[in-house]
Amino acid sequence: MSTSRLLSLRSGTAVLRLFRPTRGGKEALSVGPRVPARRYIIDMSYSSHFMDYKRTAMPSAMKKLVVTQLSPHFREAVRVQTVPVPTPGNEELLIRNRFVGINASDINYSAGRYDPTVKPPFDAGFEGIGEVVGLGLGASSDYTIGDTVAYFRNGAFAEYTIAPAKECIRVPLVKPEFLTLLVSGATAYIALKRLGDLTKGETVLVTAAAGGTGQFAVQFAKQAGCHVIGTCSTNEKAGFLKSIGCDRPINYKEENLGETLRKEYPKGIDVVYESIGGSILDVAVNCLAQKGRLIVIGFISGYQSASGIPAFKGATLPVKLLQNDYGEAMGKMMRMLAKGELACEVDCGDMAEEGRFSGLESVFRAVDYMYAGKNLGKVVVEVAPAAQGNSKL
Ligand SMILES: NC(=O)c1ccc[n+]([C@@H]2O[C@H](COP(=O)([O-])OP(=O)(O)OC[C@H]3O[C@@H](n4cnc5c(N)ncnc54)[C@H](OP(=O)(O)O)[C@@H]3O)[C@@H](O)[C@H]2O)c1
Repeated sequence: MSTSRLLSLRSGTAVLRLFRPTRGGKEALSVGPRVPARRYIIDMSYSSHFMDYKRTAMPSAMKKLVVTQLSPHFREAVRVQTVPVPTPGNEELLIRNRFVGINASDINYSAGRYDPTVKPPFDAGFEGIGEVVGLGLGASSDYTIGDTVAYFRNGAFAEYTIAPAKECIRVPLVKPEFLTLLVSGATAYIALKRLGDLTKGETVLVTAAAGGTGQFAVQFAKQAGCHVIGTCSTNEKAGFLKSIGCDRPINYKEENLGETLRKEYPKGIDVVYESIGGSILDVAVNCLAQKGRLIVIGFISGYQSASGIPAFKGATLPVKLLQNDYGEAMGKMMRMLAKGELACEVDCGDMAEEGRFSGLESVFRAVDYMYAGKNLGKVVVEVAPAAQGNSKL
């Protein structure tokens, strides 16, 4: 059903008829009295949902990445599958993914470490941004075809993804920068706000500082008036860190991190935002000031090992962390981004050996690239080019 047909139904005059589909057909829920002009008519007798692919070449099949066996090695765990494009349910949106975000934890997920009760096959990928190309009737009060949305939900590594409308975030444009906020930015915002207790003049150490989440921790700590130290593995990343306000980038490939911290910060570090684990975590713990705070948001150096992280049931750290303050964090960061107060560095692999991460299959290369420590900013894959004829895209 087309959008224009929906609109004409809504502004027409008729009897309000609602039907509940039942096994034996449809059952009238209510038959209202004759209503005056301009009352809505919701006649669901045609279907429980509608879809409209205005100006979008809508294929019947699509590709998606599916975890077919548990492994922390993404290429081993994940296969490309061709499946029918799914149909959105009543309250859902069908989103044509333009960009998807890569997260260090994509391999924890493919290893089954988040929820050991979930067995393969299951869909991979946590976050995407794109345009609405289909929607259920229940979602049509808030969304229409062509709207641009971002979402944080399993199953993003696909050409099309279904997401509940109420979980989607409306974005003004399909820009990969928005993708940096959903997991990476929100984690830094919430962790530092809830746990950092940052005070002006304090010293903050951020590890993997030039990466997806590190770049935000640097900026939020700086905005709180702190002296910020950031670790990274190249001089190019060190230059980037300076450009976003990091007072002391440390390229740990060229400088000994422990020695540098002890020498330059003899009173210790007040707050550490740590995500690497192993020897870097040891250094961070040893360099903490008295009453210092250590915020461990991950330990990427272990993720590719067989033990990786201990399996844990139910709510995961990211989910727990992101649950309460997520709406506030997203709202605040979107406003900052709009005002030009937040740098959201995106790395689409333009400098990668085989070039830009373009097309769903390049998710594999993008994961390798991150695990080789080559990324500067948030790793993002461009799944599909902009649809023609839509000015928002
Ligand atoms: N708890 C949460 O909610 C949450 C949310 C987002 C991220 N995280 C955690 O934050 C960390 C970073 O995640 P991200 O997605 O934002 O990735 P990222 O920082 O964009 O990329 C990973 C970076 O980690 C650094 N690194 C250092 N040692 C590494 C190693 N042995 N293997 C691979 N990379 C290494 C590399 O930078 P250098 O080479 O410059 O050091 C690399 O570029 C991960 O531990 C992740 O689990 C946690």
